Amino acid sequence: MTFWKKKRRKEIMAEIKIFDTTLRDGEQTPGVNLNVMEKLEIARHLERLGVDRIEAGFPASSEGDFQAVKAIADTIKETSVIALARTSKQDIDIAWEALKGAEEPAIHVFLATSPIHMQYKLNMTPEEVMDTSVNMVKYARQRFSIVEWSAEDATRSDWDFLVEIIEKVIDAGATVINLPDTVGYTMPEEYGNMFKYIRDRVPNIDKVTLSCHCHDDLGMAVANSLAAIQNGVTQVEGTINGIGERAGNAALEEIAVALKIRSDFYPYHTNLKLDELKRTSDLIAKLTGVTVQPNKAVIGRHAYAHESGIHQDGVLKNTLTYEIITPELVGVKSNSLVLGKHSGRHAFKEKVKELGFNLIDEKLNEAFKQFKQLTDRKKEISDDDIFAILMEITTNS
Ligand code: KIV
Ligand code: ZN
Repeated sequence: MTFWKKKRRKEIMAEIKIFDTTLRDGEQTPGVNLNVMEKLEIARHLERLGVDRIEAGFPASSEGDFQAVKAIADTIKETSVIALARTSKQDIDIAWEALKGAEEPAIHVFLATSPIHMQYKLNMTPEEVMDTSVNMVKYARQRFSIVEWSAEDATRSDWDFLVEIIEKVIDAGATVINLPDTVGYTMPEEYGNMFKYIRDRVPNIDKVTLSCHCHDDLGMAVANSLAAIQNGVTQVEGTINGIGERAGNAALEEIAVALKIRSDFYPYHTNLKLDELKRTSDLIAKLTGVTVQPNKAVIGRHAYAHESGIHQDGVLKNTLTYEIITPELVGVKSNSLVLGKHSGRHAFKEKVKELGFNLIDEKLNEAFKQFKQLTDRKKEISDDDIFAILMEITTNS
């Protein structure tokens, strides 16, 4: 595609805003506890990555989180900073104190709307939930120009109740409506239908940004987020590396790269600088201590590694045979051919060259035979192992 065609295509593709909650929902990962400096460093990386909004924390939850949100709000100027608050005046006041130095202070208030949460957790009637939401959105709007209201556990809520409460909180001044799949219960078609239902019935819905927020309990968080986008959502919430409560949140790197790679199917774009993904992911893994599984989509250590001989042969002839994402797109230096028991002679020969050896066919055959014997005894073959085989073969000639 020419530059102009690409530019034109981008112009007609709808923009999807990325709301990053790595520092709030992501920090709710069991065992994760970030100090002020660590949170600030992650926020700087997120700003450089180009996320549209950083949820920096929950200021009323602890003095440490208050200080972290304040430090981020006072420092990060290229990205909007938002913080979480319960629907209480005290939480909203504390959030304001933390956020007032931000370029564009924004607040995220939430209240559960599902029967199970209203009855057992909140001990509130639907009318009380509605009144509290309306009153607290109004209260928040006295200070904040951006007020996001979330219907916690929206996917287990009554859709007609959602229609009613959403209309009222928009009238009260909410600027973003978020419908989270708090417990990762929904399925893509169902989640998409829920947004369609709301859009078709809430008369003032076009006044606000519609947002999705998915958890991964059934492994559907990314698919659900994509279904929401297809049904009119223009803001996606999630975390880098998919960290978060229980099974985690929707992995933002997966959503952004899926939109990019399948732009033929999804006519949307984000503002993320995708080649910053790897660096950001690495930093978050390091500071949270939550390592990324090797086969994790987009960013895992094995995402661009090829082990079997058939695949390696294909990739050596043309990378497109087995790579739908170029590693450089997400900031990974290059793909890799991992030598193991399924590897073939072609990849082995490349490795020999890479290690600086030039063997005649007979020696190469012998080295390949020894390598194959080693693969039956050892799970991972390192460059050092191969180097040792090659040294033995060349010095014994
Ligand atoms: O998952 C959820 O419902 C949340 C809310 C606080 C928005 O994280
Ligand atoms: Zn959540």
